[in-house]
Amino acid sequence: MKLLVPVRHYLLILVVLILAGCPSPDDNQPGNLPSATPDSETKSEHTPPPEDQFEMSLQRDPVDDEITRYMLSNDKGMVVELINLGATVTRVLLPSGNGESVNVTLNFEDPTTYKMNPPYFGSICGRYSNRIAQGKFSLNNQEYTLATNNDPNHLHGGNEGFNKKIWIAEEINEADQVGVQFTYVSADGEEGYPGTLTVKVKYLLNNDNELKLEYTATTDKETVLNLTNHCYWNLGGAGSGSILNHELNLNCSQYIPVDKTGIPTGELADVAETPMDFTSFHTLGKRIEQVEGGYDHCYVRDNYDSEGVQLIATLRDPESGRSMEILTTEPGVQLYTGNFLDGSENVGGYAKHGGICLECQHFPDSPNQPEFPSTTLAPQEVYQQTTIHRFKFAK
Ligand code: GLA
Repeated sequence: MKLLVPVRHYLLILVVLILAGCPSPDDNQPGNLPSATPDSETKSEHTPPPEDQFEMSLQRDPVDDEITRYMLSNDKGMVVELINLGATVTRVLLPSGNGESVNVTLNFEDPTTYKMNPPYFGSICGRYSNRIAQGKFSLNNQEYTLATNNDPNHLHGGNEGFNKKIWIAEEINEADQVGVQFTYVSADGEEGYPGTLTVKVKYLLNNDNELKLEYTATTDKETVLNLTNHCYWNLGGAGSGSILNHELNLNCSQYIPVDKTGIPTGELADVAETPMDFTSFHTLGKRIEQVEGGYDHCYVRDNYDSEGVQLIATLRDPESGRSMEILTTEPGVQLYTGNFLDGSENVGGYAKHGGICLECQHFPDSPNQPEFPSTTLAPQEVYQQTTIHRFKFAK
């Protein structure tokens, strides 16, 4: 057979074709961050590039007509994933020594599952996070009745709390931080609460491995407000087992005793010489059996009337060497050890104590407890909260 071109030309074409199929050196460049695809696995499937090759970035990924996912990345290789449904944190990926990333917050694989989200994974809770006794409170001599969705009390804003709402998202791209500002306008009378309330929550990631939450809110009528984020943490990796081996330190000398339904008795009790004491590091599992039902209590930040953010909690996992500090302007933090996680599909398959919540907030049932710091917001006021989660990757 007569060839149209000399054999050496065919060989050259073959070599070019083979090279085109090979990964280019650019495949290892910044931008190839740990997989953004949600999965139930603890580890992402990609090996991230060496640390000095990460860069700060913000990516957007539509999930469906309503839900959009945002991926914040910093130059240390930390990634925070958010969705506008519930202004929710869906994954927090920390690089680990072996070149893989580990997701340290409990999540659902499918973002549309967050429409239900019974455990409130990663979401913003409101208008009033935590409980209001019997779903009733009074303002200006008028009694308001809310849903008693946590029989016999009101919990986390009612049947359709802020965790179930689609928030408006605006991207933030600054030299030293990336983020998303989520806005939700809650109508006057929504879930029984008075006043049209405009809430804004900014999630910001910087290169010091800090995830900062800045909340603001205004109302056109006097109302009550208590916002928090409901992430469940497992520093060993979501799905890696129980958090009972994690060590916790709280800058809280007092906690709020509650009745059998989680409503404060009104007293602030000293933690000293009780299983509630985390004023020095204690393993969560050590005394949990002495606390009926497990930890689900609001702690009182020492000097809670001080200005600005203050360290309230440090959580560390001796096995992985990872730790997280929480700084906040809030007077309290709800310590909840995932006591209601039962391994079912409703809770993403996570077993009891598979994650720990440290929800910075005002005290439960404040609208009915005149001695507690006020949670009333008047039209001329601006609600403000700042809470920072500072991560350390390993020893
Ligand atoms: C809060 C409450 C808990 C529980 C969880 C959600 O932390 O204090 O009792 O309701 O939310 O499951």
